[in-house]
Amino acid sequence: MQPEASELLIAAFGGLGGLDAATAPDSFASRADVYCCGPESLMQAVAALVPRERMHFERFVAVDRESAQEPQAVTVTCARSDVTFAVAAGESILDVLENNGMPVQGSCRTGVCGTCEVRVVTGTPDHLDSVMADDEKDSLRVMYPCVSRATSAELVLDI
Ligand code: FES
Repeated sequence: MQPEASELLIAAFGGLGGLDAATAPDSFASRADVYCCGPESLMQAVAALVPRERMHFERFVAVDRESAQEPQAVTVTCARSDVTFAVAAGESILDVLENNGMPVQGSCRTGVCGTCEVRVVTGTPDHLDSVMADDEKDSLRVMYPCVSRATSAELVLDI
């Protein structure tokens, strides 16, 4: 039986060896969104079976991500506050914002909790967090500055 969109599937997997297209819950092949939390290996196994647009992850440990480029300095402008900061290559954008009294908050500081989310007005973030998929962040125009940086020389943030 295929679940309706409003149904909630709660499943526990005792091991990953048996999780494949033949043994996956029916909801993986339905139109239902799938929410998944657990070890990274489980989430990768589920992600291989569910279309990206229906997959939602809840991570408790950051994925180890590396930028494709060397860390570079970035100029960060806070549009609503009308201030601009220079963030050195070795500095966290979140730290600079906090240290200058900007209305942002950090919690995990490892790119997993989502607390430090800021909206991006212009510029290109270099997403290094594990909160959600990069294309989802880009479509929402958000970034997580505790770990993420920029591939552009300047970022303009909606703070
Ligand atoms: S402080 Fe948790 S994602 Fe940035």
